[in-house]
Amino acid sequence: MTYVVTDNCIKCKYMDCVEVCPVDCFYEGENMLVIHPDECIDCGVCEPECPAEAIFPDTDSSVAQAWLALNHQYASSWPNITRRKTPPADADAWNGVPEKFDAHFSGKPGEGE
Ligand code: SF4
Ligand code: F3S
Repeated sequence: MTYVVTDNCIKCKYMDCVEVCPVDCFYEGENMLVIHPDECIDCGVCEPECPAEAIFPDTDSSVAQAWLALNHQYASSWPNITRRKTPPADADAWNGVPEKFDAHFSGKPGEGE
């Protein structure tokens, strides 16, 4: 089991999650983060910290299961992030917008720390 970051992180990228992770297993893309499933210890402390409610255990639903592969894929190529940076200025406007993946997901890496 692992926790995964899902659709609503896209273009919100609040980064509150990275501050609480005891094993620093978040990785930064251009407009969202992912969790490395092989590094996550399933502590669950990041889940309630996300203002966008984008973090779920992979056992939670078929949606989270679908995101497991994406988290694994991009955690292997994006840079590690352990400190919260300034979220996008329009993050609140994107919070709750449905189905962001098709139109807005970016596979580009973030800037890192
Ligand atoms: Fe990190 Fe715990 Fe969240 Fe896994 S569940 S990403 S170990 S804070
Ligand atoms: Fe994304 Fe929530 Fe973290 S929006 S960056 S998973 S705090």
